[in-house]
Amino acid sequence: MSLAIVPGSFDPMTLGHLALVKKAAKKYDRVIVAVMVNPAKRYTFDEKTRMEIAKKTVAELPNVQVISDRGLLIDLFDRTGATVVCKGWRNRSDYAYELKMAEWNKTHNPRFRTELYKSEGKYANLSSTEVRTLLAEGKVPEDLVHPDALPILLESLKF
Ligand code: PNS
Repeated sequence: MSLAIVPGSFDPMTLGHLALVKKAAKKYDRVIVAVMVNPAKRYTFDEKTRMEIAKKTVAELPNVQVISDRGLLIDLFDRTGATVVCKGWRNRSDYAYELKMAEWNKTHNPRFRTELYKSEGKYANLSSTEVRTLLAEGKVPEDLVHPDALPILLESLKF
């Protein structure tokens, strides 16, 4: 049974993230979306809200499960018996950053395997930052997040 982890801050999860999760869910038997919590990092959406948004976003995919984790990805990888970690990239700086992370993880856990997917099509340049920017300007990011996740997102900001 193959298992892919798709980790991220998901602050919040976008339709770009969903496109990546769909690719992983097609290729691997099971997918774990890991909403990572870094206590040193400030998020716009709290852990519970990021989880709820992620769950609504991937609800249509039967082999995908959403969890949250506060530790290192290399430990989550072993604990879940994962086959691979799937991450997306949009541009050269994303790619360079992801390569560096993949190398770091491999150095600290030789079993660790990363697959990098280029974002394509309609959501190729979409980011959580863009969603947060629109929200800060009082605009509803309708086409950028899953319609079922939108009410949770707006409610949490008391939009
Ligand atoms: O959505 P992002 O910002 O690309 O997600 C980054 C994330 C959460 C995947 C990355 O920060 C991460 O792997 N966090 C878990 C902690 C960890 O394993 N750190 C190792 C590198 S120092």
